[in-house]
Amino acid sequence: MITREFRGDEFINREKEIEFFKNYFNHLPQRILWVYGPKSTGKTTLIEYVIENALIKGIKAFKKPQYWIKYINFRRTLVTDYDNFLYSFLKEVENNDDFSDSGELDVELNLGVIRINSRLFKQIKEKKTNLFDELIKKLRKIKEKKIIIIDEIQLLEDIYLNGNKLLLNEFLNFCVALTKETHIAHVVILTSNTIFLEQIYSNSRLKETSNFRLIDHLDFDDIRDWLRQKKFTDSEIDLIYDFLGGSATRIKKLLEEYKYYPSLREYLEHEAIRAKNEIEIYIAQEKLNDNLIEKFEFIASEIVKKGYFYSKKLKDYIDVVSLFSKVEILFFDPINNKTTASNRLYVKAFQIEGY
Ligand SMILES: Nc1ncnc2c1ncn2[C@@H]1O[C@H](COP(=O)(O)OP(=O)(O)OP(=O)(O)O)[C@@H](O)[C@H]1O
Ligand SMILES: [Mg+2]
Repeated sequence: MITREFRGDEFINREKEIEFFKNYFNHLPQRILWVYGPKSTGKTTLIEYVIENALIKGIKAFKKPQYWIKYINFRRTLVTDYDNFLYSFLKEVENNDDFSDSGELDVELNLGVIRINSRLFKQIKEKKTNLFDELIKKLRKIKEKKIIIIDEIQLLEDIYLNGNKLLLNEFLNFCVALTKETHIAHVVILTSNTIFLEQIYSNSRLKETSNFRLIDHLDFDDIRDWLRQKKFTDSEIDLIYDFLGGSATRIKKLLEEYKYYPSLREYLEHEAIRAKNEIEIYIAQEKLNDNLIEKFEFIASEIVKKGYFYSKKLKDYIDVVSLFSKVEILFFDPINNKTTASNRLYVKAFQIEGY
């Protein structure tokens, strides 16, 4: 297992995934790539690592840019309507060219936006010109390999709910056009809200034009090697893994906090109780009816027993799976039709509840 440093923090393994992405970007764009997985498994960190290190640093050695990359994270912009959707893509600049680029490859990742002159921006804003047609025109002119990465796509759900279904569909059609139809650019879309993904997956056109890649928590070997470096004994590592599974973010929290507890076990039990309380409070606040609670308890007991919940009649459970996935207690994998706990701590919480 390799431990790297990324942005001043430890970055554990992900060798296979890094290779996968490097490889993927070397091929002709054919489909949209959906990267999905439970909350906080490291989807954003991984893709940002690949861009910054595998792509940009690798290229700098050759001096000439080989990639044109746009990274748009909807968590960093509030997107509720067409106008702020535009602002998440475009930045208005005074310029004679319709679109302008600094000419250099973007090294900073926070500039997902594409620079556009005021005149064209106005036309697009007033819907006299179609945003996506313009973007395709612009992209056609760029010689480098093009990669567009969209993070937190589920935040566009608001647009969808605000009656702008068309905009989202148009956007997805644009992604299909860039990949399958014209092979102009790679499009990678990241999300942890898979109920949204389920809607995509049930749309046969999008399903055919998409690839799906699950990024799950780290596995036991990674956690063992990592914690051995931190001088934990094997029995302590087993205990930690039993409570936290392969969640890098939970392990990092443990490393910061456990010293302040009388023992490692007490820290872990305290965390499990917090997870249990979180579930109880959620159920109370949402005033879930008995039927929903019963279904949730059944799902939780299946997860405790088998590690996951599966039902042929998913439609009978989708309401409760959706609710608990939205608050990231459960994780629904629509590609494999499996529901798990969002992380191992919730399984411990289910056990405390006696599910
Ligand atoms: N391979 C790793 N090694 C060490 N820490 C990691 C690793 N992957 C992620 N982390 C840490 O876990 C935390 C969550 O990562 P990140 O935000 O990338 O997850 P995510 O899957 O994008 O989450 P979300 O579902 O909220 O979008 C970060 O603090 C990050 O530093
Ligand atoms: Mg993320």
